[in-house]
Amino acid sequence: MSDHETKMMGELLPPQRLMLTPGPSCMDPRVYRAMAAPMVGHMDPWFTEMMDDVQELLRKVFQTQNRITFPISASGSGGIEAAVMNPLEAGDECIVCVNGAFSERMAIIAERIPAKVIRVEAPYGRTVDPADVLRAGKGRKIKFVGLAHGETSSGVVQRIEDYRKVADELGALLVVDTVATLAGIPLDVARQGIDICFSGAQKAISAPPGMAPITVNARVEEIMHARKEPVRSWYFDLTPAMSYWGKERLYHHTPPITLIYGMREALRIVLEEGLEARWERHTQNQQALIAGLEAMGLELFVKNPADRLVTVTAVNIPAGIEDGKVRKQLLDEFNIEIAGGLGPIKGKIWRIGLMGYSCQKPNILIFLAALGKTLLDQGFRLPSGAGVGAAIENYRHAAQPAVVGARE
Ligand SMILES: Cc1ncc(COP(=O)(O)O)c(C=O)c1O
Repeated sequence: MSDHETKMMGELLPPQRLMLTPGPSCMDPRVYRAMAAPMVGHMDPWFTEMMDDVQELLRKVFQTQNRITFPISASGSGGIEAAVMNPLEAGDECIVCVNGAFSERMAIIAERIPAKVIRVEAPYGRTVDPADVLRAGKGRKIKFVGLAHGETSSGVVQRIEDYRKVADELGALLVVDTVATLAGIPLDVARQGIDICFSGAQKAISAPPGMAPITVNARVEEIMHARKEPVRSWYFDLTPAMSYWGKERLYHHTPPITLIYGMREALRIVLEEGLEARWERHTQNQQALIAGLEAMGLELFVKNPADRLVTVTAVNIPAGIEDGKVRKQLLDEFNIEIAGGLGPIKGKIWRIGLMGYSCQKPNILIFLAALGKTLLDQGFRLPSGAGVGAAIENYRHAAQPAVVGARE
């Protein structure tokens, strides 16, 4: 490319979006600053010491003492691959609770081992019945029961304890996808007895996408050591990866050093706020959002309030309103991004993510105002200002300010 053409392309200047999607979320300025720090090598003693910080911070956020706890160099889907491929061998049986696109992804990955995958299903918007899981696994040798804690495709949360009980009765491991929930809603890996738990960086942690924190307990380590054949993926084999993250510091692959800087700062921010305060902030903001949406005459997709995922609110698109047109106007006029539906509910719902740094009172109020204007413009009849008014009223009853800021 000539000098002239390079100049024409211009400096990279992304728009300032308010990301109210189910990830990535907006990031605290402190995270950007951390990522602007100088590059070092992945075997540099300064860096390897810093890796210990990241692991320690992750253990605190997952609430575990597991030795194998580190961010995999991959997006959340890489977390699914690692969680499924390390315990499973060809021909093993596992159960996957499928109630949406991401739990379905776990089943697909397990089938590629190839393992015998029993899918226990629930429609989008509902939880999988633990009694169905027990029935499906009775009398079989089930290696693990896998589920998505928060099913992002439909905005549903599932009670981990119920599946732990069933997994115990089946003598199976419990594998939990917390991509949409870690650092946003209550999760305690040790207390809830999760054997393999993984997440994504770009959601309620508000770090850049490209890392999947994972933690596995001693029971899983034993299963990994007793494998008859190697893990079918070289990259996602946790044992050699841990030889780099652990004491040996043996090279495995070159990790995304800058992303790890960002994750360290994001995790520090999570723990400065405190897990419980953070969970409470997410709950308060979602309550205000729901009050606003309902006051505008919109209906939530997940009917049972107990099944609603705090970090992702799914709303039915009203009849006569076009999904794409609304999302385009929100983006063009207000710089706000929300997500549409996936799979069978594409075009039927909007998914509004309230995650990490994005999940703040001013953002909820701005969004409700913007959505109200957009819907009015597109012919949906609603009382002007109803959403913002109802949210303000809801916040009046909140115990603490639902806002965070860059703490200098
Ligand atoms: C519950 C859940 N699992 C897995 C994933 C996949 O993560 P990624 O897109 O980072 O690969 C997502 C992404 O939205 C998710 O919400």
